[in-house]
Amino acid sequence: MIILETKNLQKIYGSRETAVHALRKVSLTVEKGEFVAVVGTSGSGKSTLLHMLGGLDRPTAGEVIVDGKSIFTLKDEELAIFRRRKIGFIFQNYNLVPVLNVYDNVVLPIQLDGNEPNKKYVDLLMHALGLEDKRYALPNNLSGGQQQRVAIARALATKPAIILADEPTGNLDSRTSQDVMGLLKITSQRLKQTIVMITHNEEIAQLADRIIRIEDGRILGGGQT
Ligand SMILES: Nc1ncnc2c1ncn2[C@@H]1O[C@H](COP(=O)(O)OP(=O)(O)OP(=O)(O)O)[C@@H](O)[C@H]1O
Ligand SMILES: [Mg+2]
Repeated sequence: MIILETKNLQKIYGSRETAVHALRKVSLTVEKGEFVAVVGTSGSGKSTLLHMLGGLDRPTAGEVIVDGKSIFTLKDEELAIFRRRKIGFIFQNYNLVPVLNVYDNVVLPIQLDGNEPNKKYVDLLMHALGLEDKRYALPNNLSGGQQQRVAIARALATKPAIILADEPTGNLDSRTSQDVMGLLKITSQRLKQTIVMITHNEEIAQLADRIIRIEDGRILGGGQT
């Protein structure tokens, strides 16, 4: 089953002389439960693609279809709700809230949506990610790898249709990177969680089910299932 699809996705930043064609008619599909890596050189359009996939920014032309819904037909407010319910984001710099402890960071997106966290499921995530004894710690008192694991738990907490990760191991040493990748891999297998992950690192990309290669805003290979 296809959970994510783009059709002729195009993004142009700026206009006329300064126009940058960041995405040029990108069409790709991702199956439910797939773990896909997106690789390409700096400036090739990876982050732009991820932002479009998650509805963080609107394309110049083309479509993104998530779970059967063409998301850019939504108004801004509806798009924000869609993002909160369907997409889990993991960023390179974690984006944790410094004044909230680990547990409160993890359940924040659930609470923002006006729901009560399912404690059992959150406990399961904390356990799976080795965070149970860091429950009350503040992000600043955690290592980079621990902070990234909190960010992963937070992304998973809402049971999103898709997890989008932009260089999730970019700030980690190679050992911790391997650990974090192992966790993402297990998550995709056990929870049938769809993950699209950007990386510069070829070795890390090899751990994914499929590699999509992007260069100068175009898909070079791996775009279709
Ligand atoms: N907000 C913006 N305004 C103008 N140009 C932009 C903007 N964001 C990105 N670009 C340009 O679009 C192109 C693609 O950028 P993008 O951030 O998607 O690359 P990337 O593949 O994620 O690179 P990196 O590996 O360095 O993160 C680049 O030429 C970049 O300069
Ligand atoms: Mg980028």
